[in-house]
Formats: sequence, structure tokens, C-alpha cells
Amino acid sequence: MALRLPKQDYRDIERIIELDFVRATEAAALNSLRWLGRGDKEAADAAASDAIRGMFDLMNICGEVVIGEGIKDNAPGIFKGEQLGTWYPGSPEFHIAIDPIDGTTNISKGAPNSISCIAAASPEEGVKVALRDIPSFYMSKLAYGPRVIEYMKKRGDSLHLDMPIAEILAIVARAVDKRVQDIAVMMLDRPRHKEIVERIRAAGASLRMIGDGDIAAAIAPSLPDRDVDLYMGIGGSPEAVLAAAAIKCLGGDMQCRMWPRDEKERKSLIAEGYEKELDRIYAADDLAKGQNIIFCATGISDSALLTGVRARGGVTAITHSILMRAKSKTVRFIQARHDLQIKTIRLRSDNREHIL
Ligand code: FBP
Repeated sequence: MALRLPKQDYRDIERIIELDFVRATEAAALNSLRWLGRGDKEAADAAASDAIRGMFDLMNICGEVVIGEGIKDNAPGIFKGEQLGTWYPGSPEFHIAIDPIDGTTNISKGAPNSISCIAAASPEEGVKVALRDIPSFYMSKLAYGPRVIEYMKKRGDSLHLDMPIAEILAIVARAVDKRVQDIAVMMLDRPRHKEIVERIRAAGASLRMIGDGDIAAAIAPSLPDRDVDLYMGIGGSPEAVLAAAAIKCLGGDMQCRMWPRDEKERKSLIAEGYEKELDRIYAADDLAKGQNIIFCATGISDSALLTGVRARGGVTAITHSILMRAKSKTVRFIQARHDLQIKTIRLRSDNREHIL
């Protein structure tokens, strides 16, 4: 008598599919690595995007990109509206936020702090929009870890994006049981941060300035042992949503508000009907809503979040990834060894498997 397997329970689809999302960011990291330090960020982005699309072509999902790369890039990346996956009728649906490379300039310079990352959400009752597409180019951001949240719950203290910086630092210091002068704040190195930088220094805390890549930077305070207590500053809005998905899985939080670059952007946001939203402070849960959320990232060059790819003479490559889900809050660090003599990566550009 033929053995009949019971029908698999697909209600928790993220659980089954999640490893393929990591395969996609791993493939992006491996395929873009050859552009490290070669001064061509577009080529790196194209290589990462090609590998991600190629991996998704093997996945039976109906994936729709709801948040793609920031328009600033003018890059060959993956943008809002693109469909990923095979789209076979009946395949599970996913809304996807993606950054094939956060830190393309870093890659082109051979500098640290670049990752490939994806957040995905499957449909959930009561959640209309899981990954919120913020219309402004930049957001003002403040991100902190679970210890700060626990402390605030216990003590009734609360952090607010608009608080004087010295007060924010004092609360974080008490929460993580350090002196203010031992607090490390990560921030993008930009002229627009001049005033914040002065205030942080005046309060006595120290800075960890990064050239690019504020997704990893915003997530870092939510991980223990990263020597980053707080992320602060103005960075891209798509990056805020990707970071929010991860921070939520890690039990941290962030506060973000749209930061129009100039009067022209402010007026156009108002004309598009976002006047009320301009003052709104979004928590991680407002940007990445619900429980059916997956986040994964693979390090390309070293960051506060992940070690970058370690390649050994075209023979092996080691990748470091993080994979987590909002529902279970399981956090997996996946170190993978790839045998480059036999491993292939599927690229969308010619629909074939390639040795790296
Ligand atoms: P890219 O990798 O797409 O170039 O983005 C890098 C990044 O540093 C983001 O991490 C950050 O949110 C944003 O650019 C900041 O924008 P800007 O470089 O305009 O300050």
C-alpha cells in the first residue's frame, strides 16, 4: 500500500521559505564581491540585483517589491513594483522590501559597512500594509535596543526623537548601565549632522561615524556585544523600513519622522496629501507591521551587524547572514561555506547557473 504523506500545513509559510531568502542575499553578496574596491558602484549593484532576481526565479512565490532602492541611486537596482518569484498561480504572496546592496559606495571604495538585505511580509489578517512605503526621501531616525525598552518600561522614562540629545544619551546610559562617556552612537558622516555631532560630543558620548549603510547601523544597537548603543541621524526612508523590520524581530525599537530635504520636497509631500504625516513619529511597528515578517541580510564587507564575505583564492567563500522572523523572534546567524569550485549562482540576465 502506498504511503500517503499528510498535507503540509502552509499557514506558516515564512517558516518554509525563509532559507531561500537568505540564499538570495548570499548570492547577492557573493556575486557583487568582485566589485569590492573597483570604483564601480553601479556594476556592484547590478551584480547583486542580477543574482537576487536569479534566485527568486527559482522560488515559487508571488513576490511584489513594495519598497525598492532609493530613487537617488539612478542605479540598475530593484525598484518598487517589480515582481519577483515564479508567480505560479496559487503560490504564496509576499510583499518585499529590498536593498540588494546597502552601501554601494562602500563596496566601490573597498570600505567596510555593506550588506545585502530583504524584508518580506506575507498577508495577515488585520494588516493592510505590512511594509510602509514612506514618500519622503529621508527620515530622521533614532534606534535603540531591547535593554532601553525594558528600562523605559520599568522606570517610566521615555525617549523621544525631539528630546534634547543630552537627555536621550542620559536615558540610554542608565538603561545599558554605562556612563554617558562610554555610550557609542553610530551615525552617517554627513554635513547635515554637524549640529547633532556637536551636541553628542558636548554631552561626552562618543561617535562611530560611517560613510554609508545605515541599515546595519540602525540594527546594531539591538544586538548585544556590538559596541553600539544608539543609532541617530538622517538617512534614507527605504532603509528605515528595512531596519525597522529587523529591529522589531530583535525586540528593539526606532522612532522615525519624514525629513524633507527642502521646501520643494515639503510642498510636494503636502500636495500629495501627506501634510498630517509630516509630523508623525513612526515606531518600528508602524513601518513594519504585523507578525508575518521575515528579515534577512548577508554581510558583503564588515559592518557592525555582520562580518563580510571571506573569500579564499577562488576556492571557498564564507558568508555571514542573519535570518529572523517577527512571529517567533528566532534569530539565526548563518555562517555558510561555499565551495567555489562547484557552487553555481543563477543569474537572471541569461537565465543560467554560473560558477563564480
Ligand atoms: P546606497 O548604498 O543605496 O548608496 O545607500 C547608502 C546610504 O548610506 C543608506 O544606508 C542611507 O540611508 C543613505 O545612503 C543616506 O543617503 P545620503 O548618502 O544621501 O546621505
